[in-house]
Order: sequence, then C-alpha cells, then structure tokens
Amino acid sequence: MHTLIILGSPRKNGNSETLAQSVASGILQIPDTTVEFIRLNDLRISPCQGCGGCNKTSICVIKDDMTALYEKVDLCDHLILVSPIYFYGLSAQCKAFVDRFQARWARKYLLGIRFRADEQRQGTLLATAATEGKKVFDGALLTAKIFFDALDLECGESLLVRGVDQCGAIHKQSQTLEQAVALGRKIATGKN
Ligand SMILES: Cc1cc2nc3c(=O)[nH]c(=O)nc-3n(C[C@H](O)[C@H](O)[C@H](O)COP(=O)(O)O)c2cc1C
Repeated sequence: MHTLIILGSPRKNGNSETLAQSVASGILQIPDTTVEFIRLNDLRISPCQGCGGCNKTSICVIKDDMTALYEKVDLCDHLILVSPIYFYGLSAQCKAFVDRFQARWARKYLLGIRFRADEQRQGTLLATAATEGKKVFDGALLTAKIFFDALDLECGESLLVRGVDQCGAIHKQSQTLEQAVALGRKIATGKN
C-alpha cells in the first residue's frame, strides 16, 4: 500500500508536518507499505485559471509541477492532505493544489469516468491550528471532503489539532502524536 502525503505548510518541520511524520511512522510499522512526502511549498503550482480547458479532456492545460502530481495522486492507494489552518481554511499552497483537481472533478462529473472507485481508496485530512475555536477546522474539512470526492476517494478519519502555534509546539502534545501513530497503523490496515 502506497501513501502519498501532501505537505501544505511553508514551515519545514512545523506542527502539521510533525503530525504527518507521526502518521507516516505508524503506517510504516505495517509490512508492505510505502510513504512518499511532497512539500507543496517547494514546487511551482499555478492557481487554476478557470479556463474550462479540462472540461472535455480531464487534462489541465497548465504545464507545471502539477503534471507529475496528477499521476502520483492517481497511483497512490491512500492520500493524506496536511495543512495548517490559515484564516479558517487550508493554506494557500494546499488550496492551489486542490483547485487544480478541477481536472479530476471534470473527469468524474463531466466525463462520467469513475477512477479506481471500486477499490475503496481513502483520503485523510491532517490539520493544525493555533486557537481552540469550535469551528476552526470547518472550512478545511468541507474543502477536503469535496476534494476527496472529486478523486473518488472516501473521506477517512481526520486528525485535527487545536492549540499549537509556535513551530514545534506540537511536540508538547505527546498524546496527540501517539494518536497520529495509531491513525497511521489504522490507515495501513484499512481499519480507519
Ligand atoms: C497566515 C496565517 C493564518 C492563520 N490563521 C489561523 C486561523 O484562522 N485560526 C487558527 O487557529 N490559527 C491560525 N494560524 C496559526 C496556524 O494555523 C498554526 O500556527 C499552525 O499550527 C501552523 O502549522 P505549521 O507549523 O504546520 O505551519 C494562522 C497562521 C498564519 C501564518
């Protein structure tokens, strides 16, 4: 089982990335699993231009670092989207990545092509936020849910961590990181 982990924070080794590393370590405890990290901030990803070019082909007309990512997402068995909360939503890096999957939305809803839908592949959202706000993850969760649906991925259990702001603050939440390792094991064994 191959898991693709999309890191959406500009901060290396920040809270969301640390959470993702713990999930990855749980996944890798299970035999026959592989994990690949993609750090969006290191890539050149243009925002969707809304040109409709993908409507008839399901292929995006923009040629940039997304070209390789479409294939990686198609080939993975589990997708993990990892984002800090910015203004109650996904980071801009994540949102640009998600919006470019309009090409996959077109594949499913305009061209009627269901992609690996019978395999019960899943998507997972990991997110971190500074505050304790009740609704702080609502925006990101809704976007992730619609994104996973466009890819014919089931929306799996998410892990959302409040109250972490400074880079590395999440290390103080050892129980949360243990929870992340456990989630990784569940993802790899299909029990999430
Ligand atoms: C531009 C920006 C906007 C933010 N907006 C919010 C917010 O709306 N609510 C919140 O609780 N935290 C907010 N934060 C704090 C981050 O979500 C928090 O520090 C998070 O743990 C950072 O994760 P990272 O270390 O992986 O980047 C914001 C931070 C930045 C830089």
